[in-house]
Amino acid sequence: MARSDTAAVPIGALGVDDLDAALALSAEAGWNQVAADWRLMLRLGTGFAARDGDRLVATAIVLPYRPAFGWVSMVLVNGPYRRRGLATRLVERATTALTAAGIVPVLDATPAGAEVYGRMGFRPVGNLVRWRGSCGGRFAGAPAPAITDRVRDLDTEAFGADRAAILDDLAGRPAPVAVIAPSGAGYLLSRAGRTATQLGPLVARNEAMALSLLARGLDGIAGAAVVDVPEEAAAVAAHLAGRGFVPERPYVRMALDRDAISGTPALIHAIAGPELG
Ligand SMILES: CC(C)(COP(=O)(O)OP(=O)(O)OC[C@H]1O[C@@H](n2cnc3c(N)ncnc32)[C@H](O)[C@@H]1OP(=O)(O)O)[C@@H](O)C(=O)NCCC(=O)NCCS
Repeated sequence: MARSDTAAVPIGALGVDDLDAALALSAEAGWNQVAADWRLMLRLGTGFAARDGDRLVATAIVLPYRPAFGWVSMVLVNGPYRRRGLATRLVERATTALTAAGIVPVLDATPAGAEVYGRMGFRPVGNLVRWRGSCGGRFAGAPAPAITDRVRDLDTEAFGADRAAILDDLAGRPAPVAVIAPSGAGYLLSRAGRTATQLGPLVARNEAMALSLLARGLDGIAGAAVVDVPEEAAAVAAHLAGRGFVPERPYVRMALDRDAISGTPALIHAIAGPELG
């Protein structure tokens, strides 16, 4: 399909009826999302779809993290439709309403995504690395933890915006592990993924607590695991390396027309995932 033809591909709404096709797009890119992830993002956010006839060929979602951010995620273009401007058009659609409302569009970009967003005015505000490894723990099947007000407040201070709805959803899933410090001064959630269990968010007031929560989480997991670690969280990276985890890919956190975003990065030892922040 030529670029001029792709410009005619209409952009409309992405909904739960698109779930199977959307999952096929994230699997094509080698990503880890399962149906529960797409459902969560479509329930809380606004989805955009590019279709060639009836066929879903590209997606983007915006998650509202009020009052600070609109999180842009799931920017995916089917292989044959790439390099024809579709990602640019989708992200423009996703960000127009946010910027008009004074909300900062933020995202975690793959290296290919960063090429697209940099041209649109997104600037780097942080670096992350995805670590992948294998755990020999026993599947713990943790009971759903209660996300207390203290955990919510800690998360808002760390992340810079309210994402209680995300935490409640993750905590309500049949997670392999979920550890909340009795003091409320740290927590770790996890979720089952397509290729691996994702550990995160890991938020804690200090490094010792972060490492203790991480160790308990890793010991409770059987099989493949991924953890997305900010570059500042060197102790977490060292702990993962010590367990045989290896860096899989970098991400760059980017904000539109900004060099910094709100929040307290020192409290974040692993993010929820690039699609959730
Ligand atoms: C990254 C991705 C979304 C880009 O989609 P796309 O529709 O091809 O992007 P666009 O056509 O809008 O690209 C606009 C510009 O960005 C740059 N760009 C896009 N993809 C690039 C790549 N893989 N490498 C280098 N530059 C790239 C180019 O400058 C391009 O303009 P050009 O084609 O005139 O040279 C697509 O390759 C994809 O789905 N990849 C797998 C999933 C992924 O990484 N998504 C991003 C998540 S943050």
